[in-house]
Amino acid sequence: MSPKAAFSNAIVIGASGGIGKALVAALMADGVQNVHGLSRSGAPEFSSGGIAGRIDIRDEASIAAAAGRVRETGPADLVLVATGLLHDGAIQPEKTYRSLSADALAEYFAVNTIGPALVAKHFLPLLPRDRRAVFACLSARVGSIGDNRLGGWYGYRASKAALNMLIKSLSIEIARTLPEAICVGLHPGTVDTGLSAPFQSGVAPEKLFTPAVSARCLLDVVKTLTPDQTGGCYAWDGERIVP
Ligand SMILES: NC(=O)c1ccc[n+]([C@@H]2O[C@H](COP(=O)([O-])OP(=O)(O)OC[C@H]3O[C@@H](n4cnc5c(N)ncnc54)[C@H](OP(=O)(O)O)[C@@H]3O)[C@@H](O)[C@H]2O)c1
Repeated sequence: MSPKAAFSNAIVIGASGGIGKALVAALMADGVQNVHGLSRSGAPEFSSGGIAGRIDIRDEASIAAAAGRVRETGPADLVLVATGLLHDGAIQPEKTYRSLSADALAEYFAVNTIGPALVAKHFLPLLPRDRRAVFACLSARVGSIGDNRLGGWYGYRASKAALNMLIKSLSIEIARTLPEAICVGLHPGTVDTGLSAPFQSGVAPEKLFTPAVSARCLLDVVKTLTPDQTGGCYAWDGERIVP
């Protein structure tokens, strides 16, 4: 580990995504000793010279196998879940309740809620018992119930709100045995990736971050969070998002 690196064994799940790929690059630039870039393809180009690996968060056996490979490299002091779904061909965020579909809702929950929950199941046991560690899932400000003023985007909002609740419960449980562990949701800002591409027209240019800027901000936040902040959801600037 470089003298300045805050973490020594970091894992990015969803390393092929816009933000995930930038997180891997930023961790490598920080001199983190082991950076695991895990993606559905397992392709090395998503690991920026780190350790490439395969994971499909909709397949628990694949999650367990990935955790087993990471375990061989030592305790994991940073786990970042950067997977997510907003649109995907037939699935588009709902503008009205009239568009609700059981299949689309199930898909949102499978990727945005259940996948990260199963990642927690298999990766939380890898956290060190004797020092600070962070388990963080990329959530979204629109998952805040208190901040919902526009409505719409039913499946995405609800699946992220449910993710935030899972994070809260996980944080309570792990605090009993890992008092230095921090388990949080993170809002990356509005970031220029494939996920946000169809929805950027109303976004002021200065409010649309590059993945590199967002990743740097998110790493600054995870470096400074303290155990008393566990269980919450924090934006790219460290601001706590109302539940
Ligand atoms: N971009 C924004 O403005 C914004 C705003 C708020 C919150 N967020 C959140 O930030 C996170 C990252 O978003 P992004 O903008 O980087 O999106 P993105 O570029 O679309 O990346 C999404 C990632 O999720 C992965 N993924 C989807 N299903 C998966 C599965 N079953 N198993 C493994 N990986 C899977 C994708 O892998 P493949 O390459 O294999 O498809 C890809 O790596 C998401 O949780 C999103 O909700 C983003």
